[in-house]
Amino acid sequence: MPCTVISGGFWGDEGKGKIISYLALKDKLDFCVRTGSVNAAHTIWYEGKKYALHMVPGGFVHEKCRLLIAAGSNVHVAQFFKEVEETGVKNRICIDGQASIIEDKHSAQDKSSAHLKGLGTTGWGVGPAIEERVRRTAKLAKDIPELKPYLTDVATEVNRALDVRKKVLLEGTQGVLLSLFHGTYPYVTGRDTSASAICSEAGVGPTKITESVVVLKAFITRVGTGPLPGELTKEEAAKRGWFETAAGTGRDRRSAPFNFELAEKAVMLNGATQIALTKLDCIYPGSKGVKTFDALPTEARQFVKEIEKQTGAPVALIGNGPEALDIIDRRK
Ligand code: IMP
Ligand code: MG
Repeated sequence: MPCTVISGGFWGDEGKGKIISYLALKDKLDFCVRTGSVNAAHTIWYEGKKYALHMVPGGFVHEKCRLLIAAGSNVHVAQFFKEVEETGVKNRICIDGQASIIEDKHSAQDKSSAHLKGLGTTGWGVGPAIEERVRRTAKLAKDIPELKPYLTDVATEVNRALDVRKKVLLEGTQGVLLSLFHGTYPYVTGRDTSASAICSEAGVGPTKITESVVVLKAFITRVGTGPLPGELTKEEAAKRGWFETAAGTGRDRRSAPFNFELAEKAVMLNGATQIALTKLDCIYPGSKGVKTFDALPTEARQFVKEIEKQTGAPVALIGNGPEALDIIDRRK
């Protein structure tokens, strides 16, 4: 803090929601800014309740945190109102007037395109919505009467807040290997998902960033089509306890063991100053609920040290359980 950007290191679903919710509570965040679109679902477990958020920023768990949706994002109006209701954040959430709107027609276009289907898109219509934005015919948040009470200028609010040392978190979606520019094209999403792009969508310049935290899961998952080095069969994944289904679409996630080369690339592309490693308990069950690094099983500690050695970045946060506060915090 004051300005931390959170990105995903692989193909999404690394556990960004959990890390964001932890930082919101622990560091008492003043602002949490969501970028990206409705295709991403951030899973948050807090006080025994599970949330899968497509629009509301993960920092909602801290009641004093102001929640903003960035100019570079796409807003799905019905999903926004549904989640505002579910999380009870009506009085502390706003949207940038320049955010673009994702509509049912975009989803219909996504689902009826053989090309997009072949890429295994989520079907939310993000590609077609962004196409419209690039064509400069998209509707913006400021064009929607129901959104009037929620409009703000996110870049101005956030930069003014940083001037007075408020704590700001910029929340990325998906992972850098799904980036339109740096990922496994054409098997990627419709936007750049790197840390730099997250800042750009929010309107925060590179000199304002204090920490870039890349979230890496202790094993890798991917939904949709495209390469996945070391991919396991579904049976093998289930045997290892790594089989997951997508929080947003319910699809099976493909899985593979942790990959140090990809981790190094993720640290590089995101200019990461810190790594947040999630689901360590899924590969070393003895890690579950442990409160300090030294109390982890030997192999788990060796794995963490190997990640640091091969990527050159410190593993500052370690997730070892589903709840927001199930974290070993190694930050100074
Ligand atoms: P789209 O972003 O819906 O166009 O889908 C393009 C690719 O990105 C597909 O492989 C999707 O499965 C993947 N994708 C999009 N959003 C997410 C996400 O939040 N988590 C994981 N994969 C995603
Ligand atoms: Mg997800």
